[in-house]
Amino acid sequence: MDLFEYQARDMFEKHGVPVLAGAVATTPEEAREAAERIGTASGGVTVVKAQVKAGGRGKAGGVKVAKTADEAQEHAAAILGMDIKGHTVHRVMVAQGAKIAEEYYFSVLLDRANRTYLAMCSKEGGVEIEQLAVERPEALARVAVDPNTGIDDAKAREIVEAAGFDAETAAKIEPVLKTLWAVYRDEDATLVEVNPLVKTEDGDIVALDGKVTLDENAGFRHPDHEALQDRAAADPLEAAAKEKDLNYVKLDGSVGIIGNGAGLVMSTLDVVAYAGEEFGGQKPANFLDIGGGASAEVMANGLHIILSDPQVKSVFVNVFGGITSCDAVANGIVGALDALGDEEDRALVVRLDGNNVEEGRRILAERDHPRVIIEATMDGAARKAAELASQN
Ligand SMILES: Nc1ncnc2c1ncn2[C@@H]1O[C@H](COP(=O)(O)OP(=O)(O)OP(=O)(O)O)[C@@H](O)[C@H]1O
Ligand SMILES: [Mg+2]
Repeated sequence: MDLFEYQARDMFEKHGVPVLAGAVATTPEEAREAAERIGTASGGVTVVKAQVKAGGRGKAGGVKVAKTADEAQEHAAAILGMDIKGHTVHRVMVAQGAKIAEEYYFSVLLDRANRTYLAMCSKEGGVEIEQLAVERPEALARVAVDPNTGIDDAKAREIVEAAGFDAETAAKIEPVLKTLWAVYRDEDATLVEVNPLVKTEDGDIVALDGKVTLDENAGFRHPDHEALQDRAAADPLEAAAKEKDLNYVKLDGSVGIIGNGAGLVMSTLDVVAYAGEEFGGQKPANFLDIGGGASAEVMANGLHIILSDPQVKSVFVNVFGGITSCDAVANGIVGALDALGDEEDRALVVRLDGNNVEEGRRILAERDHPRVIIEATMDGAARKAAELASQN
């Protein structure tokens, strides 16, 4: 989960990373009030910053300095509603203005290729770090960080030395890097990036921007992270699926997919896309893995989610009974169809195999639902589902 800059700022503050005052506003009037409150501490100067989960906000005109509260209001009016790389700006952060002497770069992230963490640091921070990394990679220090020891005194020293800071600046930056590491470790992040990390004219080190990615697999350790989720941006179907603990991803096509086991579902997507070519390019409408030990209830929940997608024209249920037995799946299908009633007119192509398949097929045959079509093979079922989607 990626955080907005203002959320990263708050998180930094909580851990003792030096940041400037900042407040979120959703209307120009709120921005004005925030600027009045915050600006007094910095001679009236504030910076109005678009809050979107995309880089390059400054270049896109989403970061503007305001010398007065009136100006902050004007900037907010211009920035709110702006489109930055496909993200509409719904909020701005009004931040205290910094008197910047120098801009640096620092990040720590998960280095999957090397199975460790990686810290990156540069004396030349600011807006174009990606370009710097390509054109002059020597100006961006890369230092591996051992997960067991993290960024301690010695590691912080190693990083600032690799980046080539003078001794005085290095001494000021080192403790900030240690605190940023504490954010990374204690919040179970996979990325903490500060661009720019600045030295002010008074010689203080301050994080002026923050990007944080949290590891959702560690969410159970952080009940407070739940509140950081951007519900407005989430796909409503994905949100509903998440509430039911279903592994669902919305896709663009017309054939709803339910399977058990991520591998089987992935190959089902492939088989449906392949079969769909013959029928005007029908494609999978979603990924949904109901898991190894799926119960009738899970099956029913999954069907409900898929059928609430108006793009879905047919559904392919592809279950290989292992831990899940086919009779439980069949009961789930029957139960869901009963709950949906007569209004549901989209066909369900079912391919069952494996554990207790005879009983599963018997349950479906006995129910003899007009919209349920039983197919013996995965390829045959994919073809049927794609064909039905193209007719609907
Ligand atoms: N509070 C502030 N006071 C003074 N200048 C600021 C402040 N915040 C940002 N700036 C200036 O604006 C530039 C861009 O800001 P910021 O890094 O937050 O956005 P960005 O880099 O364009 O966005 P992103 O990091 O998402 O690509 C900074 O490099 C800095 O020079
Ligand atoms: Mg930045």
